[in-house]
Amino acid sequence: MKIQGQAALVTGGASGLGEATARELARQGAKVAVLDRNAELAAKVAADIGGVSFACDITDTASVEAALAGAEAAHGPARILMNVAGIGSAKRIVGKDGSAAPLEDFARVIQINLIGTYNVSRLFAARCAKLAPLEGDDGEGRGVMMFTASVAAFDGQVGQQAYSASKAGLAGMTLPMARDLAQHGIRVCTVAPGIFATPLLLELPEPVQQSLAASIPFPPRLGKPSEFAELACHIVSNGHLNGEVIRLDGALRMAAR
Ligand SMILES: NC(=O)c1ccc[n+]([C@@H]2O[C@H](COP(=O)([O-])OP(=O)(O)OC[C@H]3O[C@@H](n4cnc5c(N)ncnc54)[C@H](O)[C@@H]3O)[C@@H](O)[C@H]2O)c1
Repeated sequence: MKIQGQAALVTGGASGLGEATARELARQGAKVAVLDRNAELAAKVAADIGGVSFACDITDTASVEAALAGAEAAHGPARILMNVAGIGSAKRIVGKDGSAAPLEDFARVIQINLIGTYNVSRLFAARCAKLAPLEGDDGEGRGVMMFTASVAAFDGQVGQQAYSASKAGLAGMTLPMARDLAQHGIRVCTVAPGIFATPLLLELPEPVQQSLAASIPFPPRLGKPSEFAELACHIVSNGHLNGEVIRLDGALRMAAR
């Protein structure tokens, strides 16, 4: 699908990988709506790229529906959804004091990363399925969406039970959703990033950043958000990419800790 002129939605577009994706989509000519629970940062990114922003919690159906309706009013029906919003977490099952990890912590990560992503995707898909298919020799269909997993979906570290489960859920959801939405001409792919230089990581002490970078076989540096954004845009433009989970990690395989 050609990005130029399309309306696109980016969750988590206020920061990090989502912000880079919003900026790259806009650079390639998309009309971008930034959906994020951080209204202030979302508005700043949107203003920078000539897009629109919506304060939106991906786990809250009313707020997602309002954002999708607002984005459509501003830009017309969206055919591109980039699900990038997510949170990290690290918690041992048995704490230092011997107590069990609180169930609420596990549930919160699953609620945002997995259920929140599904929530936006189902509401987007229902709208997209009603659109006329795009004309073109490639059988371009109606739309495309991306999930953001993590290499932790496959090689999660000590304490990453909730995070890994949420991201493995996205990886597992990719093929069935692509198969389900094939009848509507909507493609679904997932990117599983390794370690990227986003605000959270750049706040870590320099030696920690260096040791993380050194753990990546090649290139031995943190991934650039622009590299993630390029892949996200390639997924849109390459009409044969569907139902696949793509690792973007410099051949990193995470150790146990
Ligand atoms: N940075 C990395 O190295 C890395 C590696 C693997 C996977 N990821 C994944 O990439 C995604 C982006 O990570 P990042 O490093 O850019 O993080 P980030 O914290 O810079 O950006 C995440 C954005 O998501 C938003 N968000 C969080 N919960 C939300 C909710 N419920 N509703 C709406 N918006 C919400 C935040 O406000 C924030 O703007 C996450 O899903 C993360 O798990 C990141």
